[in-house]
Amino acid sequence: TALTLLMILVAYLLGSISSAVLICKLWGLPDPRKQGSGNPGATNVYRIGGKVPAFLTLWFDVLKGMVPVWGSYFLGIEPFFLGIIAVAACLGHIFPLYFNFRGGKAVATALGAMFPVAWEMALLLIATWLLVFKISRVSSLAALITVCLAPFYAYWIKPQYTIPVIMISVLIVWRHQANILRLSSGAEAPFKRRRD
Ligand code: G3P
Repeated sequence: TALTLLMILVAYLLGSISSAVLICKLWGLPDPRKQGSGNPGATNVYRIGGKVPAFLTLWFDVLKGMVPVWGSYFLGIEPFFLGIIAVAACLGHIFPLYFNFRGGKAVATALGAMFPVAWEMALLLIATWLLVFKISRVSSLAALITVCLAPFYAYWIKPQYTIPVIMISVLIVWRHQANILRLSSGAEAPFKRRRD
């Protein structure tokens, strides 16, 4: 329906707001697309500017997924299309309209999109990420293992969302190509705790 199409568009447009770039600008930090890993996401903002801007980036990126899916849920849009709206939010984050289509990896946005429709799954994903991160101290590895498990979690907990979850997992793995290469050559730097 027209409403579903409208919400897909809203999700894409919201997803397109690159919070990492905007927050770094507000904080007077260098452009995250040009520093560190070059990725406009919370991990890289942490590298560049520390906890507070990274936390804000994480939250805004989570909200970009959460808000359109929650809104669509209350508007009575059916489950399969809620999944497509989640995909649209991630596509906005990855290919942002207002930032030359050069965005991030959509880990936080995908997580946010999960919450309104499958909070149990979102919590399980967070637990998985935290566990891998605690062991490895590598943010990209934690994200990769988590998104590879996500389709199985979905199939088990919320089977109606398995297909959109697979779509999002494929997108996220594909966006981590450079990380995968660095991980396999042992060049991916573990997380360094900052003093500030
Ligand atoms: O969420 C992005 C994370 O998985 C990797 O970020 O900056 O280390 O490439 P980065």
